[in-house]
Amino acid sequence: MCGIVGYIGNKEAYPILIKGLKRLEYRGYDSAGIALIDGNMTIFKKAGKVNDLETIVDPDKIAATIGIGHTRWATHGEPNDRNAHPHLSNSGDLAIIHNGIIENYSSIKEELTKRGYKFHSDTDTEVLVNLIEEVQKTEKTTLDNAVRIALNEVVGAYAIVILNLKNPDQLVAARKGSPLVIGIGDDEFYIASDASPIIEYTKNVVYLDDQEYAVINRDGNYSIRTLGNVEKSHEIQKLEFSLELIEKGGFEHFMLKEIYEQPKAIEDSLRGRMSASQGWIKLGGLNEYINRIDNADRFIITACGTSWHSSLIGEYLIEDLARIPVEVEYASEFRYRNPIIKETDVVIAISQSGETADTLAAIDLAKDRQALIYGICNVIGSSIARASHAGSYTHAGPEIGVASTKAFSTQISIITLIALQIAVVKGTIPTSKFREILYELENISSKIEETLALDAQIKEIAAIYKDATNFLYLGRGYNFPVALEGALKLKEISYIHAEGYPAAEMKHGPIALIDENMPVVFLATNKSAYDKIVSNVQEVKARKGRIIAVVHKGDTQIRALADHIIEVPETEEILSPLITIVPLQLLAYHIAIMRGCNVDQPRNLAKSVTVE
Ligand code: AGP
Ligand code: GLU
Repeated sequence: MCGIVGYIGNKEAYPILIKGLKRLEYRGYDSAGIALIDGNMTIFKKAGKVNDLETIVDPDKIAATIGIGHTRWATHGEPNDRNAHPHLSNSGDLAIIHNGIIENYSSIKEELTKRGYKFHSDTDTEVLVNLIEEVQKTEKTTLDNAVRIALNEVVGAYAIVILNLKNPDQLVAARKGSPLVIGIGDDEFYIASDASPIIEYTKNVVYLDDQEYAVINRDGNYSIRTLGNVEKSHEIQKLEFSLELIEKGGFEHFMLKEIYEQPKAIEDSLRGRMSASQGWIKLGGLNEYINRIDNADRFIITACGTSWHSSLIGEYLIEDLARIPVEVEYASEFRYRNPIIKETDVVIAISQSGETADTLAAIDLAKDRQALIYGICNVIGSSIARASHAGSYTHAGPEIGVASTKAFSTQISIITLIALQIAVVKGTIPTSKFREILYELENISSKIEETLALDAQIKEIAAIYKDATNFLYLGRGYNFPVALEGALKLKEISYIHAEGYPAAEMKHGPIALIDENMPVVFLATNKSAYDKIVSNVQEVKARKGRIIAVVHKGDTQIRALADHIIEVPETEEILSPLITIVPLQLLAYHIAIMRGCNVDQPRNLAKSVTVE
């Protein structure tokens, strides 16, 4: 959600900022802008894409070596040119870019208006930059101190970077709730919402923590203080991913690349953490707290969106294998509904980005109530990873497509390991079963490869249904969360209305929707409830629904009923989501492409949702 990029050094800032904004596009945005200081303050900003912004840039005005850039995901005010960032203070000296929301902006705006300030946009951001200017004037203090004082008056979440015409050798940045990374080069600094705009210039980074601000100087020095004015020193960390990983590598879209990366991503997520032949699982994070986890009365898994779907699979796995009660909570509900959380609870937070505001707030709440927090994140060094007591990275590599794919499957592989490791400790799984599952897990990637090879067939099915206005996805047991995820994928990228349901729930409502125009995707690989799902297929068939069924190779019963059959390799039932999700991802992808949609940056969506 929204992207921030800044540069100070001896190179030209403009190309670095534009390239950085393009690398941040995946986060989701609706307008973009840049501010540069080269004697004067120059601002270019425009609704639409970064390409649109480039069309209005005056090439004679971009020689600056300091600047900031922003992709805005509108919260306060329409996504138009006027509301795009950067925003200037009334004096014209300060330019700000901001990610997040200033919740008490309206009372501050009222007060500033009384003091004569004029506003030229509808944003909360413009209020903040003027508040900083007002503090600087009244307190007669430095910009960074004014930023600190102003931010202490502000309620909300933010990452900000400020340019000061009066001091063109300095950037001031701050964060609370939204990420900021500082890249440290040779006498130059980069600053960004994530490492993707930085990686090609330097691997040395420092992550700002919440409630901290940084003063970054052209002379090669920088300092970090808390908003309470305590000096901080952060260890410089090394970025581990490479530039290729954030480029498309021959695929037409990031989403397709990431779907195809799943076999490797799953292998990476399992590497060094299990051995089927030796019969062990070792998740470092889990080992550290194994006594507390083993004695937990209950697990609560909290997440949003796709990560919430993998949480549901986690519930099935942990209850099934480790026999510990599990509750799955939407982070946004959990944080506000005064839930019962006890010291003996283990709260697992699942998040690809590790920055989702609601998930972060949910774990803060659980931490206050003394629960143990276990984070499952993909982005290394992310806020949720750092806020957790223990955790495991999914190691899926950067996921750029807004629609989550490989993050989902690696979250499932990690939670499978967690459930199995606890089951072994608790003695709730026979050794022979444990070994069988481990062998199957070790081989799952080759079965996913086999499933990916069905792409051409899935594309043909997509061509038949691309103009549908509704879709139903039905599954039972482990395939129910997959139905939810399949429906979400289709909604997100093709804008077709789709619902996922437990197959048996269909007759309690959605069955009313079924007619000859309704495609119904069945996930029917379950051995345990096979006959039941066959009956559900019959029920749809009787009402002339169009049936697309994902079944095991060699299935005969459903083949006789369905309009289209997608045959996937057989696996342990508890691992089946890792396979059955793949045709659904491909189906959504092809339908979206055929409808001319932007699959990597669907409308209105953001990759990491850093506002609530
Ligand atoms: C997935 O396709 C979505 N775009 C979205 O639902 C996402 O899963 C959700 O916002 C949670 O993100 P996180 O995993 O980074 O916390
Ligand atoms: N609240 C600000 C706005 O609406 C910032 C939004 C963002 O995070 O991009 O302009």
